[in-house]
Amino acid sequence: MEPVDQTPVYQTEALIAEDILAYLDKHQHKTMLRFITCGSVDDGKSTLIGRLLYDSKMIFEDQLAALEADSKRVGTQGAEIDFALLVDGLAAEREQGITIDVAYRFFSTEKRKFIVADTPGHEQYTRNMVTGASTADLAVILIDARKGVLTQTRRHSYLAHLIGIRHIVLAVNKMDLVDYSQARFDEIVAEYREFAASIGIAEFVAMPISGFKGDNITAPSPNTPWYSGPSLVEHLETVEVDTATDQARPFRMPVQWVNRPNLDFRGFSGLIAGGTVEPGDAVRVLPSGKTSTVSRIVTLDGDLDSAVAGQSVTICLADEVDCSRGDVIATADQPPQAADQFEATIVWMDDDAMLVGRSYWLKLGTQTVSVTVQQPKYTVNVNTLEHLACKTLELNAIGVAEIATDKPLVFEPYADSRTLGGFILIDKITNRTVGAGMLHFALRRAQNVHWQATDITREVHASLKNQKPKVLWFTGLSGSGKSTIANEVEKRLNLMNRHTFLLDGDNVRHGLNRDLGFTEADRIENIRRVGEVAKLMADAGLIVLTAFISPFRAEREMVRKMLPEGEFVEIFVDTPLEVAEARDVKGLYKKARSGVLKNFTGIDSPYEPPEDPDIRVNTVEMTPEEAAEHIVRQLMPLK
Ligand code: ADX
Repeated sequence: MEPVDQTPVYQTEALIAEDILAYLDKHQHKTMLRFITCGSVDDGKSTLIGRLLYDSKMIFEDQLAALEADSKRVGTQGAEIDFALLVDGLAAEREQGITIDVAYRFFSTEKRKFIVADTPGHEQYTRNMVTGASTADLAVILIDARKGVLTQTRRHSYLAHLIGIRHIVLAVNKMDLVDYSQARFDEIVAEYREFAASIGIAEFVAMPISGFKGDNITAPSPNTPWYSGPSLVEHLETVEVDTATDQARPFRMPVQWVNRPNLDFRGFSGLIAGGTVEPGDAVRVLPSGKTSTVSRIVTLDGDLDSAVAGQSVTICLADEVDCSRGDVIATADQPPQAADQFEATIVWMDDDAMLVGRSYWLKLGTQTVSVTVQQPKYTVNVNTLEHLACKTLELNAIGVAEIATDKPLVFEPYADSRTLGGFILIDKITNRTVGAGMLHFALRRAQNVHWQATDITREVHASLKNQKPKVLWFTGLSGSGKSTIANEVEKRLNLMNRHTFLLDGDNVRHGLNRDLGFTEADRIENIRRVGEVAKLMADAGLIVLTAFISPFRAEREMVRKMLPEGEFVEIFVDTPLEVAEARDVKGLYKKARSGVLKNFTGIDSPYEPPEDPDIRVNTVEMTPEEAAEHIVRQLMPLK
């Protein structure tokens, strides 16, 4: 039963509705500035944010929520639209599934709406700051006037600049504690200027403030007569927002979805990332490169004569060109490039270190592709800004590396476009966002290598051998019996006149993979190469048997995806560690236990058992011969 609504009916309901509508209407047309505050609790960050929210007579979160409740009660649509608009800006992060500790606060003044990202100061600073900063137009770098430029000031500035924040405010706080000394302020600004120039920050605005006393927050302070610049709020209200810059760029719209309600209408919906567009404009769909003309720009409120960066629209084209989610519609004469190898800066955000060679999902705007990262060229020490050699990236590390995608990516350098140059990396198994990155430029390496079509196809090879190619992928601990069972299976297949080849870990590691050891990165590369070889052999029509520990699900899945559906057969040689260790055929477990042998699977290196193998054999209950019989029976028919 619905509870009876006890709220008194407003006599002036209509009036309130009108007020809210008027209020929201006024706010709806304001521009929005997104900014981030950098500094620690000691610098007075919380006080400053509190002061901003309080002094600027804004509507902040709670009031906004109350306002929304009110507007629902009186049933105005306008209220919801405005609220959605305000929250909309956060959808990007939410869509990316980043669950990082960043608090967003909304407020507005007479002139503008604001979203401030407040990131916790200490732990995991880089990850949080990068998340908060990724959509910010401006960064307020807080400095304690008594302490001056500190390591953390440098770190925050470096990150803000790296993320592409174009506007930096150096807020020299706690001026009340240095007697509003101009000399002290000038000294700090001079020191900061020198540092800023060294990392490429050309411009910044410095202001003496006191978050605690309220100096130069909303109005010029009588305590700093020597300062003639704007107050913090004045500056925030007037600084140019990034959408203004984006609008001046060539037109680009990543396609979010194809809107096809019926056969008479086909439109491409998305958020315009750059430039302006009008019906009649010549456009190009990337990566295919097909051209057409804009016939209509459709929105919920009717057709538009033009649309600009920052607007969500549906574009109709004059021709029936192929265009789907992930494609980019761009101005025909200045389209962005597409490439599949890049140099990029990567910020690692996961507790588990990056794995060189592992394939991750890369999400760039509406495009999702598979990507592998090479060993980084260097990592940057965010405190000293030194470049250091490294093998991988740990949590919060920033590095520069080459990456390769499995399909061409439509992109622009991050310096030109955050939308088309910024990406996130997602672990394929856990679905966690593990990194964020910025594309620098495309590497031209693969451009002149084309896939060569041959007449004797894999089908021809297979039919000559009168069999269906397969890759029988044995996985299990060292000493589980993979090689023994695979050998038994191969013998049986040969008796049946099947054409086979057995790739065995210990053997391949003497030749093709002689250069690889047993670190995670080397094991990944080991399996990648074996996967490629197995694929070539399957293309040649063979039934390939592989016996490798292949400890990681991600790489086994990668090989499965490289082959046609059904050709990859994962065979789990299921032997408990105690049993394999008790057998210890090669004496390696003993060495591993004594610490002589490092990174040994099952001891100090992980093994991820298959969750749903195609075939499982239990070597405690079955002899190798029985296991082989069982496998061959499961494989029938082989033609
Ligand atoms: S994998 O992990 O990269 O798939 P692979 O199957 O090629 O391993 O090689 C495993 C074989 O190498 C084992 O059967 C064992 O004989 C030998 N080996 C030497 N060191 C190690 C180690 N640290 N961990 C596992 N196997 C090792």
